[in-house]
Amino acid sequence: MTCVQKPSSIVKKAVMGLTGLVLFGFIVGHLIGNLLIYAGPEALNGYALTLRHLGELLWVARIVLLAAVGAHILTAMSLVRENRRARPTPYQFQDTIQTTYAARTMAVSGLVVLAYIIYHLLHFTFRVTNPHLSHLTDANGHHDVYRMVVFSFQNPWICASYIFALTLLCMHLNHGLASAAQSLGANNQKWEPRFKKAGCIISLIIYLGYISIPIAIYTGIIKAVPGGHL
Ligand code: HEM
Repeated sequence: MTCVQKPSSIVKKAVMGLTGLVLFGFIVGHLIGNLLIYAGPEALNGYALTLRHLGELLWVARIVLLAAVGAHILTAMSLVRENRRARPTPYQFQDTIQTTYAARTMAVSGLVVLAYIIYHLLHFTFRVTNPHLSHLTDANGHHDVYRMVVFSFQNPWICASYIFALTLLCMHLNHGLASAAQSLGANNQKWEPRFKKAGCIISLIIYLGYISIPIAIYTGIIKAVPGGHL
């Protein structure tokens, strides 16, 4: 069956792809920064301090990120509404059932990731879920991000909730990368499976990188170092 797309859906898919790419860039950059925890407190706290010293540039990056999240969600909602209106009832084609299943999975994982990001900001950025985390300072008197992360992931419930959300984030990423490749024209028999495989490997590497942090802390591979002040 040939499927003619409306110009508005092509624009919406381009917005999804572009905003998805911005968010993907942040997820990779944030992972690289967070992995500095393996290099010790000086490395992670120094990195956090460098980011804070970016001043206005950091705010520009935050605004771009927030705009990308907003546009990604609003465009996704609009595409879901559009697909729902165009859907033949009852389901006649296997393709339609599969597309609807994938869209539903994306909507559910997307909502969980959104809830996770809100919780994560309340936890590590605004520190309202545990206000004591704001009082942790390192030997130089700066906020001790290293000990904040280590103390947090010594709690099994925090570890479990992060691992759960990161699992859904990486499932979302896996499907998102496959759809982005398809929108970019890799929808032929030769390239589609290759792009899908690459997307799967990239999502898996990101997943393992992120979940390694709570696991390493909970199992005691990464420990809180003495020093600093609470
Ligand atoms: C094990 C996983 C993660 C760890 C340990 C972690 C750690 C952190 C820490 C320590 C901060 C605060 C930095 C500071 O105040 O100096 C932070 C901020 C943030 N994290 Fe994460 N993060 C994780 C996963 C994620 C994921 C998967 C996302 C996105 C989907 C994310 C999005 C953010 C955002 C948006 C901020 C606020 C950045 C800002 O200050 O503008 N984080 N994270």
